[in-house]
Amino acid sequence: MVNNKPIGIFDSGYGGLTVFRSIFKQLPQYDYIYLGDTARAPYGNRSFQTIHQYTWECVRWLLKQGCPLVILACNTASAKALRNIQQLDLKGQDPAKRVLGVIRPTAEVIGNYTKTKEIGVLGTKGTIQSESYKMEIGKFFPDVKVHQQACPLWVPLIENGEYDKPGANYFVKKYLDQVLAQSANIDTLLLACTHYPLIQQKIAAYLPANIKVVSQGDIVAHSLVDYLHRHSEMEKSISTGNTQRFFTTTDDTADFDHYGELFFGAKVQSGFAEIKC
Ligand code: DGL
Repeated sequence: MVNNKPIGIFDSGYGGLTVFRSIFKQLPQYDYIYLGDTARAPYGNRSFQTIHQYTWECVRWLLKQGCPLVILACNTASAKALRNIQQLDLKGQDPAKRVLGVIRPTAEVIGNYTKTKEIGVLGTKGTIQSESYKMEIGKFFPDVKVHQQACPLWVPLIENGEYDKPGANYFVKKYLDQVLAQSANIDTLLLACTHYPLIQQKIAAYLPANIKVVSQGDIVAHSLVDYLHRHSEMEKSISTGNTQRFFTTTDDTADFDHYGELFFGAKVQSGFAEIKC
């Protein structure tokens, strides 16, 4: 039977599957529906208005599928669309429905990882230019200095299957050199993009041993566990059929299934979602 109250997970493409993978590990009992807007990804270099419009179209589609809760498992969408969706777009919807992002839960804990009180945040151009991480981390850890670095070529390398090839090393080094040049005291690098866990080993291999690399999947998953403990009405409203359904906005779903497996770590079989309303 098709579940009717799943947790919705949204990303511009495949990357959010790294977050979904961690969530599913922590909370396997729920029903899930994942939507990747692969037809219009990547979002990283797009304008604020476009990212907001695309994200809301996808979130609205997920809400129509019956989701009481939608997670924006995309840093760029969390940075550029979440506030408008929460404050404006959700007004016309069932007031019990919620949309959450990945930046706040990450900002709440990232300061605990650093001893030197200096961290580097790596993300897409959109995420970095929004300054969202600087602002959010500043609220929870005002004594932590945040250095930011956009890495615009990492997502295309990963999306095109070049991330594990020797040629990728040049671009991995390029952006790491740039962030490390900002301060010799950085001891923590946050991967603030859902795609970057796929090159985490390459990144770690290039760095001195005193610098930690932190990805978000487990942080977001722990935060969701905590959120559902604190919001029992929401928790009860989510169906618990242990199903995972995957949708993409591209009518040729073969690529999604292929790359999806890499990001999710298990077989993925997707369907086509016609989200234009
Ligand atoms: N999912 C996006 C993020 O986490 C990266 C891919 C994109 O640019 O659309 O920022």
